[in-house]
Amino acid sequence: MTEPRSNPLVALAGQTVVVIGGSAGIGLETARRARAEGADVVLTGRNPDRLERAAAELGALSCAAFDATDPAALDRFFGDLPEAIDHVLVTGPGPYYARLADLDRERAHRDFDDHLWLAVAVAQHAVGRVRPGGTLLFMGGTGGRARVAASITGVVWTLKGKPGVLDAVVLEGRVPGPRLGLGRHRRH
Ligand SMILES: NC(=O)c1ccc[n+]([C@@H]2O[C@H](COP(=O)([O-])OP(=O)(O)OC[C@H]3O[C@@H](n4cnc5c(N)ncnc54)[C@H](OP(=O)(O)O)[C@@H]3O)[C@@H](O)[C@H]2O)c1
Repeated sequence: MTEPRSNPLVALAGQTVVVIGGSAGIGLETARRARAEGADVVLTGRNPDRLERAAAELGALSCAAFDATDPAALDRFFGDLPEAIDHVLVTGPGPYYARLADLDRERAHRDFDDHLWLAVAVAQHAVGRVRPGGTLLFMGGTGGRARVAASITGVVWTLKGKPGVLDAVVLEGRVPGPRLGLGRHRRH
């Protein structure tokens, strides 16, 4: 069991923030903010070159290039993490969008499954590893993906009672990236 932190969500100094999908966009900007507040960051993404550039720019604790929807790769990643971490933000993978007439139902089904099970897997890995007072933050998308996010909310809140997972948030709707901060979220 990990030790509790003294001042949750006020300052990130001394905390470890894991950003799955942290080599670009909202994840990278959040990691930059976390570093500015004194946190160590661990970044992931699929493209190793872009990831390494981001990790070097931020002075990341470590980075790992893998597809987060690959359960075995995700298991290895969490196995290699420091024993205790404080926050996990999941941004990638992006959603599959198509006009209804063009929608590939197989692909839409896979996309739904990938997002749902990624959140469940991250929550499972967080148990006993995320210090009390830490957060699991899952970035939802717009449009149809909000439905997936709603499902994830239920699953994650079900898992929330497990030791070590004290806070779990699903962002839905439109969230302006630059105003996104760990521990502060908006719901529309
Ligand atoms: N709620 C809102 O208002 C709102 C607004 C904008 C975006 N979003 C959602 O937020 C998410 C992030 O948006 P963004 O603009 O930051 O996107 P982005 O700039 O494309 O960044 C996505 C990040 O996730 C990584 N990634 C993508 N698929 C991955 C996978 N399968 N495994 C591991 N890493 C993966 C990307 O790196 P690699 O490509 O190298 O893997 C990159 O680091 C998207 O899902 C988007 O739908 C929500």
